[in-house]
Amino acid sequence: MSAIVIVGAQWGDEGKGKIVDLITEDADVVARFAGGPNAGHTLVVGDTKIVVRLLPSGILHPKAVCVMGQGMVIDPAVLVGEIDALEARGHSTASRLFVSDRAHLILPYHPLIDGLREASAEAGKKIGTTKRGIGPCYEDKAGRRGVRAGDLRDMRKVEGLLEGALAAWMPVLTGLGGEAPNVREILAWLEPLAARIVPLLADTSKLLNEALREGKRVVLEGAQAALLDLDHGTYPFVTSSSAVAGGACVGTGIGPTRIRRVIGIAKGYATRVGEGPFPTELGDEIGERLRSVGGEYGSVTGRPRRTGWLDLPALRYAARVNGLDALAITKLDVMTGISPLRVCVAYDTPTGRTQDLPIDELATATPVYEAFPGWTEALAAARSLDELPGAARDYLKLVEASVGVPLDMVSVGPRRDETIVLRDVFA
Ligand code: GDP
Ligand code: IMO
Ligand code: MG
Repeated sequence: MSAIVIVGAQWGDEGKGKIVDLITEDADVVARFAGGPNAGHTLVVGDTKIVVRLLPSGILHPKAVCVMGQGMVIDPAVLVGEIDALEARGHSTASRLFVSDRAHLILPYHPLIDGLREASAEAGKKIGTTKRGIGPCYEDKAGRRGVRAGDLRDMRKVEGLLEGALAAWMPVLTGLGGEAPNVREILAWLEPLAARIVPLLADTSKLLNEALREGKRVVLEGAQAALLDLDHGTYPFVTSSSAVAGGACVGTGIGPTRIRRVIGIAKGYATRVGEGPFPTELGDEIGERLRSVGGEYGSVTGRPRRTGWLDLPALRYAARVNGLDALAITKLDVMTGISPLRVCVAYDTPTGRTQDLPIDELATATPVYEAFPGWTEALAAARSLDELPGAARDYLKLVEASVGVPLDMVSVGPRRDETIVLRDVFA
């Protein structure tokens, strides 16, 4: 029994795709458990770069069984487009991609409502969503009027479900000045997509539990991150799903007793895309440098990511709400040439100094920084800690000691092989 959970420990885009792709070299099955095409997970192998939005990041390994769990929200057109794009590049998904029949479908009115809401929200109320329909789709799920992937087996049933969902959304759409979607048009759009998706449907909870019983190695891939989690993030500036490790159980139908290790991914600095508090944000030339050297532009929307110093209280918080066993620190190479490096070690709040993240009072909290020496050497060729400059090793030791969680991996470049592996995560 060995299910390994990989989650984002900051505000997303930490490099989950890269780490999941790497770990899948030694795995049999990889399953995504949350979110939808708001995610953009980048895989770089040699000179090839592929960004997956719905497919699990293990998809490039031809023997890996890939599962899309029931915690996901799936846009059928994005899924079929992603499968076709991969096939065109010579990566077959045939007979090894399985879609949970309980996953909810993102239908055309979801991105429409998401976009209209964002456009009409007053200043300070915009979430800065990816406009991919994520929030409205999860609202339909919680409102018990969603359409699930398994419903595609019976388009007459889908028609009835669409009528119910649209009746519920009409007052909202009218209020936002949107046009009423046409059920016939949605059905006509959906039918050819359904023909492609129905053969992939499976009881993926059963599939995953059987794989675990047979001793297979399973990777459970998160999307988004702790601070974007619906329950644990910087509410209301969050996504609409459970992005923390607990979500891996709910989103796949695996019990907590089956989880062997939880690994949190964090950059050596911090980024956030979209609105919401980001206390260590840099508006200066160091922030710009992190953005340009780190290529910090959204993988899905192309938006420039906000950049800032590493926030240790935030990382400790992520370690707590995920029960992290280990950390993987990414993009250390991007920090070369910045000295001193500043790190948020605590917060000053109206009631005093705290080592915790005052998550619901970030507006009145001030980060307390400590400065550490940087380094000037390029890091991409390092494959062991010994090959890193002393200042980089000290920086990693600081993170490990302050978060109280050991390092499993350090990433020093976007490519699969540009990684210092400190432990066999399945051992
Ligand atoms: P994810 O959403 O967590 O999978 O992360 P994204 O793929 O959205 O963003 C991470 C970006 O950083 C991608 O462009 C990766 O190719 C890149 N990346 C990942 N690890 C490293 C690293 O260690 N160094 C550098 N320079 N880039 C990295
Ligand atoms: P990966 O998996 C970074 C952010 C959006 C917005 C908020 C809500 O690649 O790390 P949504 O469209 O989900 O309703 O938007 O969440 N967001 C992400 N930020 N990486 C992601 O995914 C994100 N997915 C959503 O920018 O602030
Ligand atoms: Mg991303």
